[in-house]
Amino acid sequence: MTARAEPMNTGERPPTATRVKGTVNENAATPSSPHQRPVRDDDNVAAAFWVTLLCTDMSDDSTARITADLRTWIAQAPPGAQLPSNRALMAEYQASPVTIQKAMRALGALGIIESCPGVGTFVRALRTARPLDYGWQTGALRSPHSRIPTLATPLRSSSPDAIGLHAGYPDRELLPEQLVRAALARAARSDAALSQSPAAGQPELQAWFANELAEATPAGVTPPAPRDVVVLPGSQSGLSSIFRALAGSGQPLLIESPSYWGAILAAAQAGVQVVPVPSGPSGPAPDELVRAFEETGARVFYAQPNYANPTGAQWSPERAEQVLDVVRAHGAFLVEDDWAHDFGIDTTAQPVAAHDDAGHVVYLRSLTKSVSPSVRVAAVIARGPARDRILADRGAESMYVSGLLQAAALDVVTQPRWRTHLRNLRQQLRARRDLLIDSLAEHVPHAHLDHVPRGGLNLWARLPDATNLDQLARDCEAEGVMIAPGTEWFPAEPSGPFIRLNYSGPNPDRFPDGARVIGRALARYADR
Ligand SMILES: Cc1ncc(COP(=O)(O)O)c(C=O)c1O
Repeated sequence: MTARAEPMNTGERPPTATRVKGTVNENAATPSSPHQRPVRDDDNVAAAFWVTLLCTDMSDDSTARITADLRTWIAQAPPGAQLPSNRALMAEYQASPVTIQKAMRALGALGIIESCPGVGTFVRALRTARPLDYGWQTGALRSPHSRIPTLATPLRSSSPDAIGLHAGYPDRELLPEQLVRAALARAARSDAALSQSPAAGQPELQAWFANELAEATPAGVTPPAPRDVVVLPGSQSGLSSIFRALAGSGQPLLIESPSYWGAILAAAQAGVQVVPVPSGPSGPAPDELVRAFEETGARVFYAQPNYANPTGAQWSPERAEQVLDVVRAHGAFLVEDDWAHDFGIDTTAQPVAAHDDAGHVVYLRSLTKSVSPSVRVAAVIARGPARDRILADRGAESMYVSGLLQAAALDVVTQPRWRTHLRNLRQQLRARRDLLIDSLAEHVPHAHLDHVPRGGLNLWARLPDATNLDQLARDCEAEGVMIAPGTEWFPAEPSGPFIRLNYSGPNPDRFPDGARVIGRALARYADR
């Protein structure tokens, strides 16, 4: 065995990675410890390193696993410690040179190792210890025009062992995983992987979205054409474009109350004046809507006629017709957000847009929740100048949507197994919804559900009037249960203390435990 590598530079804190001189043991299993020792109970770093390696399960993605192992080790090793040679790692992991090189490249890209050709690879020293001060920026930026919260509750990530009832996107077990993986692989091999997409979207995908709405269109109404479709990178960005293009900064926008927090944020971002219109289990009352249009002179009303987020409300055909009449009478637009089209449980979504061919309804349909949160593809269907203005805004915002994602999304929804998937999904959502309702009934008797949602992903529960929602959410989180305080769904003051509970998150078998925690926290709160 040759001599252990010695650090060339000395001192407490080397400014860059420690370089080594002299001979190196090619088969070294013992990383050198030129400075402080890694933080570990066990003094023998090398032994711990190899234990980690030996315990590794080689069955999955080996590169990711080796990278993760080495990251753990690096985090505990002193700067300048030498990593085992690629040859030693190959032998230890029974991995190919390509796999080891990929892992090394990944670590290199993270900036945590440094390679000295012909010498070895070493743990890199941290360069910055000095706290940075960006205080000057607030002086330069001044106060924001609108205070947009940094992270809405449904976007918060939770630890894997938490019971996540706050989430916005369905758990993996509810997604068509095999269809998505196969579609992405096919898209990667297709021209779409390397070409620019038309601004309004790929024609085949435009045709698919148009056809979906056309299928619901009754005789006597002209169905939308593919050119009426503008493909979006998720419907959230479509909301901003629509509000900018159809209302405009400083103009009023009517919005159901409560309503989707993201629509409220998009409105704030577009600088429009939000005007709440109270909405219940059967949608907004037509006379309230008339009053809001007349008082404000608004020309745009944002609503979710099917399985609204958060209430789960679905408008009856009669209510849809009444609302459409009011919208027409005021020469206005209804922005119909059909986000949960694929999540019908007891009923099927009935787009109001199917009953309009005069361009009053601007229809949003998203695939991000039903196909995959990673395939962010949605579409807006609008006719006439409204469509042109929305497209112009999209062009200015992001030019076009990744053709790769469009091709993958279209591939998934045109497979015969997509329909089977949707049928199974309906069953799973029903079971999850009912389990959460039963769990609430048993453990949170003070929670009141106005109605059982006939689709969608959420329960909207009213709690006793004195409930401090933020405190409740914190107490539940401390016990590993994430809930979403309803406040975020109100464009103005909330009409009461509500929580939104999503039943599409991971581990539905733990819903009863989650409800128990909420019930206990509420009871404690009532005792205070
Ligand atoms: C009502 C509603 N509209 C739009 C969106 C945004 O969806 P996307 O993922 O397509 O941007 C959501 C997401 O939660 C939603 O609930």
